[in-house]
Amino acid sequence: MKKLFTNDYIVREGFLSEAVCARWEKNILRNLHIFGADVEPVYGQMAAYYGMIEAGLNESYYRFAEKHNKYLLKEFPEVAAVIADAGRLILSHSGLKPDALPVVPRDKKYFQVGGFNLQLHSWDLYNIHTDTEGLLLYPSSIFEKKTRAYSCVVSVKRTAQYTKDRGGDLDIWRERVLAHELDGFYKRDGFSAKSSKLREKIPYKVGNMVLFDSFMPHVVLPFKVKKKDDRRISFVVHFNYRDHTECNPFPHLEYWY
Ligand SMILES: [Fe+2]
Repeated sequence: MKKLFTNDYIVREGFLSEAVCARWEKNILRNLHIFGADVEPVYGQMAAYYGMIEAGLNESYYRFAEKHNKYLLKEFPEVAAVIADAGRLILSHSGLKPDALPVVPRDKKYFQVGGFNLQLHSWDLYNIHTDTEGLLLYPSSIFEKKTRAYSCVVSVKRTAQYTKDRGGDLDIWRERVLAHELDGFYKRDGFSAKSSKLREKIPYKVGNMVLFDSFMPHVVLPFKVKKKDDRRISFVVHFNYRDHTECNPFPHLEYWY
């Protein structure tokens, strides 16, 4: 849908209360067998669709998604409201009524509705990227201008390293780069940005929500996990616009993790 915004991001400071973030953090760190960062083909939140795809374990993701959705909504009941609010925000930020489109899960049985990214170990990778992994179901869409895809991140636990060079915090480039345009964005090395002119620092305080066009290059700043305080948790949901899908034969905003 043309009207849905592109090349922009929204920051909602204090979107989630510190009390909720603290409860989520406690719940997650107490259940590392479910939320551990490593990809294992056993029940658990595992490492999201992209991690499983990369590891060739996508069938495990599908097998456990429905089970995990039930767990997620029971143990983290605020998740449903976060997703609904983010969907409405995409629409209202685009100048549409907040209920202009239904916001529905990608086939719920096979896709998690939302999830957590956990960094329990040092994060040295300076990985500037766009979020196209969720569009794998619609392969040609990563090359198409008309595609509308959004990433929604809530900062649940900031690594203590944010005081040192903003470790673990987020920067976004204010430009829209489709998959085939990335060669023009990176230097010859294929991973560092040619220019930092459009690079912007995102306020990443605990409880903040950042919602952005998934085609905007972004980077989590590297950090080291030396002590427990250095661990980092974020809540993540992706959205994209569909004219229709088999499960939802009407125009909608689809979400998944
Ligand atoms: Fe990303």
